[in-house]
Amino acid sequence: MPHATHLSRRALLTAPLAVAAGCRAQGTAAAPAARADPAPFRTLAPFPVGTCAMSDQMQDPQFAALLATNFDQLTPEWEMKMEAILQKDGRLDFTLPDAIAAVASSRGMRLHATTLVWHEQKAPAFLALDGQTTRFKVAYRNYILAVAGRYRGRAAGWDVVNEPVRNDSEGYYDSIFSRNLGPAHIEDAFFLAREADPKAVLFLNEYNLEYMPAKRRLFLKLAERLLKAGAPLGGLGTQSHLVASSRLGQVTESLRDLASLGLPIHVSELDVSTKEGTYVAMGQAERLTRQAALVQETVEAFSALPAAQRYALTVWGVRDKDAWKARPPNDGTDQPLLFDAQGKAKPAARAFAEALAKAPR
Ligand code: G3I
Repeated sequence: MPHATHLSRRALLTAPLAVAAGCRAQGTAAAPAARADPAPFRTLAPFPVGTCAMSDQMQDPQFAALLATNFDQLTPEWEMKMEAILQKDGRLDFTLPDAIAAVASSRGMRLHATTLVWHEQKAPAFLALDGQTTRFKVAYRNYILAVAGRYRGRAAGWDVVNEPVRNDSEGYYDSIFSRNLGPAHIEDAFFLAREADPKAVLFLNEYNLEYMPAKRRLFLKLAERLLKAGAPLGGLGTQSHLVASSRLGQVTESLRDLASLGLPIHVSELDVSTKEGTYVAMGQAERLTRQAALVQETVEAFSALPAAQRYALTVWGVRDKDAWKARPPNDGTDQPLLFDAQGKAKPAARAFAEALAKAPR
Protein backbone atom coordinates (compact mmCIF):
# COMPACT_ATOMS: atom_id res chain seq x y z
CA MET A 1 0.00 0.00 0.00
CA PRO A 2 1.31 3.49 -0.76
CA HIS A 3 2.57 5.22 2.33
CA ALA A 4 -0.70 5.61 4.16
CA THR A 5 -2.53 8.91 3.81
CA HIS A 6 -2.68 10.28 7.28
CA LEU A 7 -6.03 10.05 8.91
CA SER A 8 -6.31 12.94 11.28
CA ARG A 9 -4.29 11.78 14.22
CA ARG A 10 -6.64 13.74 16.47
CA ALA A 11 -9.55 11.65 15.19
CA LEU A 12 -7.53 8.51 15.67
CA LEU A 13 -6.41 9.29 19.16
CA THR A 14 -9.50 11.02 20.53
CA ALA A 15 -12.27 8.91 19.01
CA PRO A 16 -12.67 6.73 22.15
CA LEU A 17 -12.96 9.92 24.25
CA ALA A 18 -15.63 11.32 21.91
CA VAL A 19 -17.61 8.12 22.31
CA ALA A 20 -17.32 8.33 26.10
CA ALA A 21 -18.39 12.00 26.08
CA GLY A 22 -21.36 11.06 23.93
CA CYS A 23 -22.44 8.50 26.53
CA ARG A 24 -22.11 11.03 29.36
CA ALA A 25 -24.21 13.51 27.39
CA GLN A 26 -27.00 10.91 27.31
CA GLY A 27 -26.61 10.40 31.04
CA THR A 28 -25.21 6.90 30.65
CA ALA A 29 -21.89 6.27 32.33
CA ALA A 30 -19.34 5.28 29.74
CA ALA A 31 -18.29 1.70 30.22
CA PRO A 32 -14.60 1.78 31.06
CA ALA A 33 -13.07 1.37 27.64
CA ALA A 34 -10.92 -1.73 27.45
CA ARG A 35 -7.35 -0.74 26.71
CA ALA A 36 -7.80 -0.38 22.98
CA ASP A 37 -4.93 -1.45 20.75
CA PRO A 38 -2.90 1.53 19.57
CA ALA A 39 -3.96 2.88 16.19
CA PRO A 40 -2.08 1.27 13.27
CA PHE A 41 1.45 2.67 13.31
CA ARG A 42 1.54 3.34 9.57
CA THR A 43 -1.53 5.60 9.83
CA LEU A 44 0.09 7.70 12.57
CA ALA A 45 3.56 8.35 11.16
CA PRO A 46 4.52 10.96 8.55
CA PHE A 47 7.25 8.57 7.38
CA PRO A 48 7.46 4.84 6.54
CA VAL A 49 7.25 2.46 9.50
CA GLY A 50 8.93 -0.85 8.81
CA THR A 51 9.66 -4.22 10.27
CA CYS A 52 11.73 -7.20 9.25
CA ALA A 53 10.04 -10.39 8.11
CA MET A 54 10.69 -13.83 6.63
CA SER A 55 8.51 -15.49 4.00
CA ASP A 56 7.49 -18.42 6.20
CA GLN A 57 6.10 -16.04 8.82
CA MET A 58 3.26 -15.24 6.41
CA GLN A 59 1.81 -18.67 7.22
CA ASP A 60 1.05 -17.32 10.70
CA PRO A 61 -2.26 -15.41 10.39
CA GLN A 62 -1.63 -13.25 13.46
CA PHE A 63 1.81 -12.24 12.19
CA ALA A 64 0.43 -11.48 8.73
CA ALA A 65 -2.39 -9.38 10.23
CA LEU A 66 -0.11 -7.38 12.54
CA LEU A 67 2.27 -6.80 9.60
CA ALA A 68 -0.45 -5.56 7.24
CA THR A 69 -2.14 -3.41 9.90
CA ASN A 70 0.88 -1.63 11.27
CA PHE A 71 3.70 -1.48 8.75
CA ASP A 72 4.20 -0.06 5.27
CA GLN A 73 7.86 -1.02 4.78
CA LEU A 74 9.45 -4.47 4.89
CA THR A 75 13.09 -5.46 5.36
CA PRO A 76 13.83 -9.13 4.58
CA GLU A 77 15.34 -10.46 7.81
CA TRP A 78 17.81 -12.66 5.90
CA GLU A 79 16.42 -13.78 2.54
CA MET A 80 18.11 -11.11 0.43
CA LYS A 81 21.54 -11.67 1.95
CA MET A 82 24.50 -13.47 0.40
CA GLU A 83 23.81 -16.53 2.60
CA ALA A 84 20.42 -16.99 0.90
CA ILE A 85 21.52 -16.24 -2.67
CA LEU A 86 25.15 -17.23 -3.32
CA GLN A 87 25.52 -21.00 -3.65
CA LYS A 88 28.71 -22.90 -2.83
CA ASP A 89 29.43 -23.39 -6.55
CA GLY A 90 29.07 -19.66 -7.25
CA ARG A 91 25.58 -19.88 -8.74
CA LEU A 92 23.02 -17.29 -7.67
CA ASP A 93 19.69 -18.71 -6.51
CA PHE A 94 16.97 -16.06 -6.23
CA THR A 95 14.19 -18.34 -4.95
CA LEU A 96 14.23 -16.95 -1.40
CA PRO A 97 14.76 -13.26 -2.21
CA ASP A 98 12.09 -13.37 -4.93
CA ALA A 99 9.68 -14.88 -2.41
CA ILE A 100 10.23 -12.20 0.23
CA ALA A 101 10.18 -9.43 -2.39
CA ALA A 102 6.80 -10.78 -3.51
CA VAL A 103 5.55 -10.64 0.09
CA ALA A 104 6.28 -6.90 0.12
CA SER A 105 4.91 -6.12 -3.36
CA SER A 106 1.73 -8.21 -2.88
CA ARG A 107 0.99 -6.18 0.24
CA GLY A 108 1.89 -2.84 -1.29
CA MET A 109 4.75 -2.47 1.19
CA ARG A 110 7.93 -0.55 0.40
CA LEU A 111 10.90 -2.92 0.25
CA HIS A 112 14.18 -2.05 1.96
CA ALA A 113 16.79 -4.66 1.06
CA THR A 114 19.66 -5.85 3.25
CA THR A 115 22.53 -6.46 2.57
CA LEU A 116 24.90 -6.68 -0.40
CA VAL A 117 28.25 -6.78 1.45
CA TRP A 118 28.67 -7.91 5.07
CA HIS A 119 31.91 -9.18 6.57
CA GLU A 120 29.92 -11.66 8.70
CA GLN A 121 28.40 -13.54 5.75
CA LYS A 122 30.18 -16.84 5.29
CA ALA A 123 30.54 -16.91 1.50
CA PRO A 124 32.20 -20.17 0.43
CA ALA A 125 32.12 -19.15 -3.24
CA PHE A 126 34.19 -16.06 -2.42
CA LEU A 127 36.42 -18.06 -0.10
CA ALA A 128 37.24 -20.31 -3.07
CA LEU A 129 38.55 -17.23 -4.90
CA ASP A 130 40.53 -15.88 -1.95
CA GLY A 131 43.85 -14.53 -3.23
CA GLN A 132 42.85 -14.71 -6.92
CA THR A 133 42.39 -10.94 -7.11
CA THR A 134 41.23 -10.61 -10.70
CA ARG A 135 38.69 -13.44 -10.47
CA PHE A 136 37.59 -12.20 -7.05
CA LYS A 137 37.03 -8.68 -8.43
CA VAL A 138 34.94 -10.05 -11.33
CA ALA A 139 32.86 -12.20 -8.96
CA TYR A 140 32.30 -9.25 -6.59
CA ARG A 141 31.17 -7.05 -9.49
CA ASN A 142 28.92 -9.77 -10.92
CA TYR A 143 27.32 -10.47 -7.55
CA ILE A 144 26.40 -6.86 -6.78
CA LEU A 145 25.23 -6.09 -10.33
CA ALA A 146 23.11 -9.25 -10.47
CA VAL A 147 21.48 -8.90 -7.04
CA ALA A 148 20.92 -5.13 -6.97
CA GLY A 149 19.95 -5.25 -10.66
CA ARG A 150 17.31 -7.93 -10.10
CA TYR A 151 15.37 -5.73 -7.66
CA ARG A 152 15.86 -2.51 -9.63
CA GLY A 153 12.68 -0.49 -9.31
CA ARG A 154 11.42 -2.74 -6.49
CA ALA A 155 13.87 -2.01 -3.68
CA ALA A 156 13.43 1.54 -2.37
CA GLY A 157 16.79 1.25 -0.68
CA TRP A 158 19.69 -1.12 -0.06
CA ASP A 159 22.04 -1.61 2.84
CA VAL A 160 24.99 -1.77 0.46
CA VAL A 161 27.58 -2.39 3.18
CA ASN A 162 26.60 -3.64 6.63
CA GLU A 163 28.63 -3.17 9.84
CA PRO A 164 31.94 -1.89 8.39
CA VAL A 165 33.28 -0.54 11.71
CA ARG A 166 34.93 -2.85 14.25
CA ASN A 167 33.08 -3.07 17.53
CA ASP A 168 36.27 -2.13 19.37
CA SER A 169 36.08 1.22 17.53
CA GLU A 170 39.72 0.73 16.48
CA GLY A 171 39.07 0.66 12.75
CA TYR A 172 37.20 -1.11 9.99
CA TYR A 173 36.67 -4.85 9.77
CA ASP A 174 39.17 -6.90 7.90
CA SER A 175 37.21 -9.28 5.66
CA ILE A 176 37.63 -11.49 2.64
CA PHE A 177 36.45 -8.49 0.65
CA SER A 178 38.97 -6.02 2.11
CA ARG A 179 41.78 -8.61 1.88
CA ASN A 180 41.20 -9.15 -1.84
CA LEU A 181 39.99 -5.73 -2.93
CA GLY A 182 41.40 -3.35 -0.32
CA PRO A 183 39.43 -0.77 1.69
CA ALA A 184 38.06 0.63 -1.59
CA HIS A 185 35.78 -2.44 -1.80
CA ILE A 186 33.29 -0.27 0.10
CA GLU A 187 33.28 2.55 -2.45
CA ASP A 188 33.29 -0.05 -5.23
CA ALA A 189 30.14 -1.64 -3.78
CA PHE A 190 28.32 1.69 -3.85
CA PHE A 191 29.33 2.48 -7.43
CA LEU A 192 28.32 -1.03 -8.53
CA ALA A 193 24.97 -0.83 -6.72
CA ARG A 194 24.26 2.50 -8.42
CA GLU A 195 25.24 1.02 -11.81
CA ALA A 196 22.71 -1.76 -11.14
CA ASP A 197 19.97 0.43 -9.74
CA PRO A 198 19.88 4.14 -10.64
CA LYS A 199 17.26 5.03 -8.05
CA ALA A 200 17.55 2.98 -4.86
CA VAL A 201 18.76 4.90 -1.81
CA LEU A 202 22.12 3.36 -0.94
CA PHE A 203 22.96 2.99 2.76
CA LEU A 204 25.80 2.25 5.09
CA ASN A 205 24.26 0.38 8.05
CA GLU A 206 25.79 -0.05 11.53
CA TYR A 207 24.99 -1.05 15.11
CA ASN A 208 25.98 0.17 18.59
CA LEU A 209 26.26 3.75 17.32
CA GLU A 210 24.09 4.89 20.25
CA TYR A 211 26.41 3.38 22.85
CA MET A 212 29.85 3.82 21.28
CA PRO A 213 30.64 7.43 20.29
CA ALA A 214 34.11 6.41 19.03
CA LYS A 215 32.51 3.82 16.72
CA ARG A 216 30.02 6.47 15.59
CA ARG A 217 32.90 8.86 14.78
CA LEU A 218 34.61 6.19 12.65
CA PHE A 219 31.30 5.43 10.94
CA LEU A 220 30.81 9.11 10.07
CA LYS A 221 34.45 9.35 8.94
CA LEU A 222 33.83 6.48 6.51
CA ALA A 223 30.66 8.17 5.27
CA GLU A 224 32.61 11.38 4.65
CA ARG A 225 35.32 9.40 2.82
CA LEU A 226 32.68 7.87 0.55
CA LEU A 227 31.07 11.23 -0.18
CA LYS A 228 34.49 12.76 -0.89
CA ALA A 229 35.20 9.92 -3.33
CA GLY A 230 31.96 10.73 -5.11
CA ALA A 231 30.39 7.41 -4.07
CA PRO A 232 26.55 7.45 -4.26
CA LEU A 233 26.05 7.11 -0.50
CA GLY A 234 22.41 8.07 -0.06
CA GLY A 235 21.72 7.37 3.59
CA LEU A 236 22.93 6.19 6.98
CA GLY A 237 21.34 3.26 8.81
CA THR A 238 21.57 3.03 12.58
CA GLN A 239 20.37 -0.39 13.63
CA SER A 240 19.44 0.70 17.18
CA HIS A 241 19.62 -2.67 18.91
CA LEU A 242 19.13 -1.08 22.33
CA VAL A 243 19.05 -2.39 25.90
CA ALA A 244 16.37 -1.34 28.38
CA SER A 245 18.97 -0.74 31.10
CA SER A 246 20.63 2.04 29.11
CA ARG A 247 20.23 5.67 30.07
CA LEU A 248 18.01 7.99 28.09
CA GLY A 249 19.63 10.61 25.89
CA GLN A 250 22.15 8.44 24.04
CA VAL A 251 19.76 7.73 21.15
CA THR A 252 18.99 11.42 20.73
CA GLU A 253 22.68 12.34 20.77
CA SER A 254 23.50 9.63 18.24
CA LEU A 255 20.75 10.57 15.80
CA ARG A 256 21.73 14.22 16.02
CA ASP A 257 25.33 13.30 15.19
CA LEU A 258 24.37 10.98 12.34
CA ALA A 259 22.07 13.60 10.82
CA SER A 260 24.90 16.15 10.77
CA LEU A 261 25.95 15.06 7.25
CA GLY A 262 22.50 15.95 5.95
CA LEU A 263 21.81 12.44 4.60
CA PRO A 264 18.55 10.51 5.09
CA ILE A 265 18.57 8.40 8.24
CA HIS A 266 17.11 4.91 8.66
CA VAL A 267 16.52 3.61 12.16
CA SER A 268 16.88 0.20 10.62
CA GLU A 269 16.56 -2.57 13.25
CA LEU A 270 15.05 -1.13 16.45
CA ASP A 271 14.57 -3.50 19.33
CA VAL A 272 15.12 -3.03 23.06
CA SER A 273 16.44 -6.04 24.93
CA THR A 274 15.02 -6.59 28.41
CA LYS A 275 17.76 -9.13 29.15
CA GLU A 276 21.05 -7.71 27.87
CA GLY A 277 22.58 -4.94 29.96
CA THR A 278 22.65 -4.60 33.73
CA TYR A 279 19.45 -4.78 35.78
CA VAL A 280 20.13 -4.54 39.49
CA ALA A 281 17.02 -5.98 41.18
CA MET A 282 14.79 -4.72 38.41
CA GLY A 283 11.60 -6.67 37.83
CA GLN A 284 10.19 -7.35 34.36
CA ALA A 285 7.48 -4.70 34.69
CA GLU A 286 10.09 -2.00 35.27
CA ARG A 287 12.21 -3.31 32.39
CA LEU A 288 9.17 -3.03 30.10
CA THR A 289 8.56 0.52 31.33
CA ARG A 290 12.16 1.45 30.56
CA GLN A 291 11.81 -0.25 27.18
CA ALA A 292 8.80 1.96 26.43
CA ALA A 293 10.72 5.08 27.44
CA LEU A 294 13.59 4.20 25.08
CA VAL A 295 11.18 3.48 22.24
CA GLN A 296 9.52 6.83 22.87
CA GLU A 297 12.89 8.59 22.83
CA THR A 298 13.86 6.91 19.58
CA VAL A 299 10.64 7.90 17.82
CA GLU A 300 10.81 11.45 19.16
CA ALA A 301 14.47 11.91 18.18
CA PHE A 302 13.86 10.45 14.70
CA SER A 303 10.70 12.53 14.26
CA ALA A 304 12.64 15.67 15.15
CA LEU A 305 14.81 15.22 12.05
CA PRO A 306 13.99 17.31 8.97
CA ALA A 307 11.38 15.46 6.90
CA ALA A 308 13.90 14.96 4.06
CA GLN A 309 16.13 13.04 6.47
CA ARG A 310 13.43 10.70 7.78
CA TYR A 311 13.87 7.70 5.46
CA ALA A 312 12.08 5.17 7.69
CA LEU A 313 11.82 3.82 11.22
CA THR A 314 12.08 0.02 11.24
CA VAL A 315 11.66 -2.37 14.16
CA TRP A 316 13.45 -5.70 14.02
CA GLY A 317 10.41 -7.95 14.26
CA VAL A 318 6.76 -7.82 15.32
CA ARG A 319 6.14 -10.04 18.38
CA ASP A 320 8.62 -11.02 21.06
CA LYS A 321 8.46 -14.62 19.87
CA ASP A 322 9.52 -13.50 16.37
CA ALA A 323 12.63 -11.76 17.66
CA TRP A 324 16.10 -12.98 16.63
CA LYS A 325 17.03 -12.31 20.27
CA ALA A 326 14.49 -14.90 21.36
CA ARG A 327 15.78 -17.60 19.00
CA PRO A 328 18.36 -20.25 19.89
CA PRO A 329 21.06 -20.07 21.12
CA ASN A 330 19.17 -17.44 23.18
CA ASP A 331 16.76 -18.90 25.74
CA GLY A 332 13.61 -17.15 24.50
CA THR A 333 13.12 -15.02 27.63
CA ASP A 334 14.11 -11.71 26.06
CA GLN A 335 11.14 -9.45 25.23
CA PRO A 336 12.69 -6.89 22.83
CA LEU A 337 9.77 -5.98 20.56
CA LEU A 338 6.51 -3.96 20.59
CA PHE A 339 4.02 -6.83 20.77
CA ASP A 340 4.19 -9.68 23.27
CA ALA A 341 4.35 -13.36 22.34
CA GLN A 342 0.53 -13.43 22.13
CA GLY A 343 0.50 -10.45 19.75
CA LYS A 344 -0.81 -8.05 22.40
CA ALA A 345 0.44 -4.45 22.43
CA LYS A 346 3.01 -3.85 25.17
CA PRO A 347 3.69 -0.50 26.87
CA ALA A 348 6.38 -0.01 24.20
CA ALA A 349 3.77 -0.31 21.43
CA ARG A 350 1.64 2.38 23.06
CA ALA A 351 4.64 4.64 23.56
CA PHE A 352 5.63 4.02 19.92
CA ALA A 353 2.15 4.94 18.64
CA GLU A 354 1.76 8.00 20.85
CA ALA A 355 5.14 9.36 19.79
CA LEU A 356 4.41 8.68 16.10
CA ALA A 357 1.12 10.56 16.37
CA LYS A 358 2.95 13.62 17.71
CA ALA A 359 5.63 13.56 14.98
CA PRO A 360 5.84 16.89 13.18
CA ARG A 361 4.41 16.61 9.68
O1 G3I B 1 14.76 -20.42 8.54
C1 G3I B 1 15.87 -21.03 7.88
C2 G3I B 1 15.70 -22.53 7.85
O2 G3I B 1 14.55 -22.86 7.07
C3 G3I B 1 16.93 -23.13 7.21
O3 G3I B 1 16.85 -24.52 7.24
C4 G3I B 1 18.17 -22.67 7.96
C5 G3I B 1 19.39 -23.20 7.25
O4 G3I B 1 20.51 -22.52 7.76
O5 G3I B 1 18.24 -21.23 7.97
C6 G3I B 1 17.13 -20.65 8.60
O6 G3I B 1 17.27 -19.28 8.46
C7 G3I B 1 18.06 -18.63 9.43
C8 G3I B 1 17.33 -17.30 9.65
O7 G3I B 1 18.12 -16.43 10.46
C9 G3I B 1 15.99 -17.52 10.31
O8 G3I B 1 16.15 -17.99 11.58
C10 G3I B 1 19.45 -18.39 8.83
O9 G3I B 1 20.16 -19.61 8.78
C11 G3I B 1 20.21 -17.42 9.73
O10 G3I B 1 21.47 -17.09 9.14
C12 G3I B 1 19.39 -16.14 9.87
O11 G3I B 1 20.06 -15.26 10.77
C13 G3I B 1 19.80 -13.87 10.55
C14 G3I B 1 21.12 -13.13 10.74
O12 G3I B 1 20.92 -11.72 10.64
C15 G3I B 1 22.12 -13.56 9.68
O13 G3I B 1 21.59 -13.26 8.41
C16 G3I B 1 18.77 -13.37 11.57
O14 G3I B 1 17.50 -13.94 11.29
C17 G3I B 1 18.67 -11.87 11.51
O15 G3I B 1 17.83 -11.39 12.58
C18 G3I B 1 20.04 -11.22 11.66
O16 G3I B 1 19.86 -9.86 11.46
C19 G3I B 1 21.05 -9.07 11.68
C20 G3I B 1 21.04 -7.94 10.68
O17 G3I B 1 21.04 -8.46 9.37
C21 G3I B 1 22.24 -7.03 10.93
N1 G3I B 1 22.23 -6.51 12.30
C22 G3I B 1 22.23 -7.56 13.31
C23 G3I B 1 21.00 -8.47 13.11
C24 G3I B 1 20.97 -9.53 14.17
O18 G3I B 1 22.07 -10.37 14.05
